[in-house]
Amino acid sequence: MRAPSLGRHLAAEQRAFLARDRAGWEDHLARVRAFLGEGLGSAGPDSKVLVLGAGSGLEVPWKLAPPSAVGWDADPWSRLRTFLRHGRWVPWVFQDLTGGLEDLAALAWRTARQPWSGRIRANRAAWRRLAGLAASLDPRCGALRDWLREHRPATVLAANVMGQFGAVAQRLVERAFAGHPPWTQDPEEPDPMDQALDAWTARAVRAFLEVLAGSGAELWLVHDRAVLFEAAAVSLGPTVDPWTAQLRSEGPLEAQDPLCGVDVAGELRERAPDRHLRWLWPVADGRTHVMEAVRVPRPRGSFWTQDPAAFLSHNP
Ligand SMILES: C[S@@+](CC[C@H](N)C(=O)[O-])C[C@H]1O[C@@H](n2cnc3c(N)ncnc32)[C@H](O)[C@@H]1O
Repeated sequence: MRAPSLGRHLAAEQRAFLARDRAGWEDHLARVRAFLGEGLGSAGPDSKVLVLGAGSGLEVPWKLAPPSAVGWDADPWSRLRTFLRHGRWVPWVFQDLTGGLEDLAALAWRTARQPWSGRIRANRAAWRRLAGLAASLDPRCGALRDWLREHRPATVLAANVMGQFGAVAQRLVERAFAGHPPWTQDPEEPDPMDQALDAWTARAVRAFLEVLAGSGAELWLVHDRAVLFEAAAVSLGPTVDPWTAQLRSEGPLEAQDPLCGVDVAGELRERAPDRHLRWLWPVADGRTHVMEAVRVPRPRGSFWTQDPAAFLSHNP
């Protein structure tokens, strides 16, 4: 038996995502499509544009995209689903954006299973071993880095994918320990596996932002800033950092940080965002996402995205 492939796992996740009851999603869909649509529309008809986490195009108004735009999603059905939704056969990259999920899944599988029988080691020693070994994994987003270097897009959109890195990693690990979740059940006890996965996720998110910031492209980033549980009476005040200061709630809130403590604007370093929006997305009963949309203009004098002659005339 082998670890399930990332593609198969993401395809199953996408089916579940699309099968959800979408009552209450209208406001989110209108906002995310408006933001991503503006990014696509402002790119210019001859620009190279890359859409990361393109999925089935539920959130991406592909009709506004220039002809050479490319989608990126590791779900093997995403391109076809985009075609069925938008009638457009978009060039596509199917690789893992983090570059590290297959390694993590394989490590979890090897740690969780006895080599010959395949029986699951449902014990603390296996979880601790995996937690220790996972510390040496370093997702570097290598495929994305290489693609950006080769193709030099003028605009990159991240369509609600960055907040998924940790959730996908967690579910791949859980699948390796099928039926025996490798988490400490006592919320008062520190959980080494939980901590190891948070640290892995933070490394992946930082690497992703570092690669995007270094690309010189204009960035339009949408992601889950937080997941709130049982948040019926929650609202957002004016946009302010940290995001927790923006929450207005009548009662106590249980919140989870899908970016595992990474500060998006901080990681973009000298490339300061010039647009910063947040809104609430009631995804399901008892589960609301705080969505964040950030636009980062192209760096001034960037050779990366300019015609070399034009660059040299301004930077002799
Ligand atoms: C919340 S969905 C976004 C939906 C999408 N923007 C749309 O309009 O349909 C996240 C998407 O990211 C993809 N994804 C998640 N992790 C990924 C990874 N590490 N590499 C590439 N794609 C990934 C999933 O397959 C999924 O389609």
